[in-house]
Amino acid sequence: MLIYQPREDSYLLQKQVKKYAKNKSVLDIGSGSGIQALSAIESGAKSVLATDINDDAISFLKSQNINAIKSNLFSKIKKTEKFDLIVFNPPYLPREKKEDKESALSTTGGKMGDEIILRFLKQAKSHINKKGIILIVLSSLTPKDRIINLLKNKKMKYKVISRQHLFFETLEVWEIKIQTNKNPPH
Ligand SMILES: C[S@@+](CC[C@H](N)C(=O)[O-])C[C@H]1O[C@@H](n2cnc3c(N)ncnc32)[C@H](O)[C@@H]1O
Repeated sequence: MLIYQPREDSYLLQKQVKKYAKNKSVLDIGSGSGIQALSAIESGAKSVLATDINDDAISFLKSQNINAIKSNLFSKIKKTEKFDLIVFNPPYLPREKKEDKESALSTTGGKMGDEIILRFLKQAKSHINKKGIILIVLSSLTPKDRIINLLKNKKMKYKVISRQHLFFETLEVWEIKIQTNKNPPH
């Protein structure tokens, strides 16, 4: 199965991973080529675990000495395991009939485009430490309403920390945290 090779979205997230990863326990979901996991390691993360649903990505990550497990989102992560930083460059595009199935696994988030992100966010809160941070990539082509509602319901807050305009879409990196009384939603 094709391994997603780094593109603009990968590099946009990578820049933030480099800033956030130092001394953190990091979980890289949908690691693919391992670009985020490697950046976290190089930036002095305390520990890094990479996951992907794609067997070939897992074999590749292991060949690069990255600690990797095959997992559908958090399915193979211990229920009680928590991280300081979870990063995900998800499949975020709405389904395109023309796209072949193999590349769709990396790019298509579902019929609307937000489905995998919603599943991810439903599970993610129980895997971050109280002061933990989630970094995720979204596109202007990803519908945001359900994502924002879910975050509100889960008492999580988000802010856009970087943005890149491309020819056909705008990419954003969101920083997501658990809301505390000290940091109410803006
Ligand atoms: C856009 S690529 C990102 C790859 C890499 N992290 C990067 O930044 O370049 C999305 C990755 O998510 C993986 N993926 C898709 N659905 C997944 C799921 N349900 N659980 C885990 N990984 C998944 C794909 O196999 C692919 O490697």
